Amino acid sequence: MKNFKRPGRPTGDMLRGYFGIGVERVTKPFNVGNLFRSAHAFGASFVFTVAAEYTRKQGRAADTSKALANQPFYAFPTIEAMVLPKGCALVGIELVDDAVMLPSFHHPRQAAYVLGPERGSLSDAMLKRCDHVIKIPTRFSLNVGIAGVVVMYDRLLSMGRFDARPMRPGGPAQAPRKAGGRTLAAMSGYRIEPPLAEVEIAENDGLDRGPA
Ligand SMILES: C[S@@+](CC[C@H](N)C(=O)[O-])C[C@H]1O[C@@H](n2cnc3c(N)ncnc32)[C@H](O)[C@@H]1O
Repeated sequence: MKNFKRPGRPTGDMLRGYFGIGVERVTKPFNVGNLFRSAHAFGASFVFTVAAEYTRKQGRAADTSKALANQPFYAFPTIEAMVLPKGCALVGIELVDDAVMLPSFHHPRQAAYVLGPERGSLSDAMLKRCDHVIKIPTRFSLNVGIAGVVVMYDRLLSMGRFDARPMRPGGPAQAPRKAGGRTLAAMSGYRIEPPLAEVEIAENDGLDRGPA
């Protein structure tokens, strides 16, 4: 196995524009700390809360990266008090019907993303204030910190300057590995018969007719 070099700098320098991320009316400090830690890792320019009680002290427990010592943190007491840099688009992240599906969303170059609380969702007033609202195509809602990570990663993928994915499995400059031919043979040593019930289902065109 090749020796992989550790990255010298985080991902922020690969991105165009900037972004901030925050959360409205959140109640669990652990979730906020977690989100802010991830924001720090993804190179956010600022983090914020709106109408939430969250102190630096509370955050420390969930955030060993010391995110708040490394990126500006704004605690807006209300939506009306919320101010953003000029030209910065507010992007709501919420599972609502008319939200744009994340994979089809063009991220604004300068953006502030806002998530809703653990129990509930972004307030109507916040949704109204948003320039865009996006949703992650999931069967049900994700944890708020995880939802934030998915969006930040999507931004990184769509705006970071990465090499295009090659047609074959593997990285762009990677020579094909020799192990391919050997793998199936090696796997065959572990092959076992499937359970009888599954064979029966397969023979019944995938229908489970239950016990005879
Ligand atoms: C745990 S969810 C809130 C609970 C959710 N309203 C429910 O009743 O199941 C917390 C926040 O994460 C974000 N979120 C979670 N899953 C999402 C998804 N699939 N698409 C967009 N936002 C999501 C939203 O901002 C949401 O307000």
